[in-house]
Amino acid sequence: MNALQLSTIDAFRRVFGTTPACVAFAPGRVEVLGNHTDYNGGCVLSVALDLGVAAAACLRPGPPRAEVWSEAFGEMASFALEDVRREGRSWSNYPRGVVRELERSGVPLKGFRMLIASSLPIGSGVSSSAALELATAEALYGLFGGRPAKPMDEAQLCQRAEAGFVGVPCGLLDQFSSLFGRKDHVLFLDCATLRHMQVPLGRDDLRVVLCDTGEKHALVDGKYAALRASCERARDRFAQVLSHEVRFLRDVSPPDFEAWAQEIDEGDRPRAEHVIRENERVIRGLAAVKSKVYDELGRLMLASHASSRDLFGNSTEALDLLVEAAAGTKGLVGAKLTGGGFGGSTVNLVERGAERELTERLARRFEGRFGRRPKVLATGIGDGARVESL
Ligand code: GLA
Repeated sequence: MNALQLSTIDAFRRVFGTTPACVAFAPGRVEVLGNHTDYNGGCVLSVALDLGVAAAACLRPGPPRAEVWSEAFGEMASFALEDVRREGRSWSNYPRGVVRELERSGVPLKGFRMLIASSLPIGSGVSSSAALELATAEALYGLFGGRPAKPMDEAQLCQRAEAGFVGVPCGLLDQFSSLFGRKDHVLFLDCATLRHMQVPLGRDDLRVVLCDTGEKHALVDGKYAALRASCERARDRFAQVLSHEVRFLRDVSPPDFEAWAQEIDEGDRPRAEHVIRENERVIRGLAAVKSKVYDELGRLMLASHASSRDLFGNSTEALDLLVEAAAGTKGLVGAKLTGGGFGGSTVNLVERGAERELTERLARRFEGRFGRRPKVLATGIGDGARVESL
């Protein structure tokens, strides 16, 4: 049990005056390669973090209601289990969505109390929302059983909670990474076939340094959906002109793209190019991790960022500056924006011991340009979601 789970048990006692029956933990993630490839049927490389969300829970007597307290928001959400509804833009939509999906999958829920606490920054692009979904699901499986035989079903259930209930049409990257995380391993997922792997890094000295621009990236506000729609329009056009089946943009090879690019709407074309070439970078990145050629992995991460900046359009001046400032730091493997984009954080993979110099460089450059210090957080590569009974 980690320190966050322990403090969550204490907070649960304070808020509810009783001891929880179980406490779950689900990590945040960073995307190492595969930016916006997941909903295009492509591949991703990611790692789970040591930081995440904990959820402690116990049964609640009386009518079937949920009472969920958020430490971060200092707020209680209370809702009836037989009619789970969305509540504006509340944080509680994530646990509400998971409850609805668990009920739909046949898990026999009864009234419960839950307390949620997090060591992840919120809205920084490290998937606090997927961690919240997975922590909720784990805690409720811990209380009521009904866990699916295939772990991927749990990741997909949480994805449905986010896409179908909260309303962000995300891919599977975040939920997959939070569930399948493994200490000092890189995670690979092919989102079309769901083939996945946990590849050992072969070293335990790599750290993740997150540098937060402080620009809140809110994916619910429609930018993410607009990018997705752009990719789908390009896919539909490729499906008309190519002679083989195109279910996803991933089914378009770089030579196909080059041959037919003029057929694609000018606005959608660079986005499609980003996704198609990014998918190739993931395949090469997987080979680099398997053969432990980390400088190749680093080059691919920088190329991925450049492609987000120049083609996909989901970078910002602050993210670009942070990646540029990181490049060349001794001990740095690679740096790029992570997740949806439009703000949030950059991810830096760095050798242990080099964090301090990197942090100083990033802070100096950022402060020189924006007049404030960025938030920098160093963390390890950790295990995936789990629940412990008490
Ligand atoms: C967000 C989404 C993911 C993925 C990334 C971009 O994190 O939740 O599904 O699309 O953006 O790669």
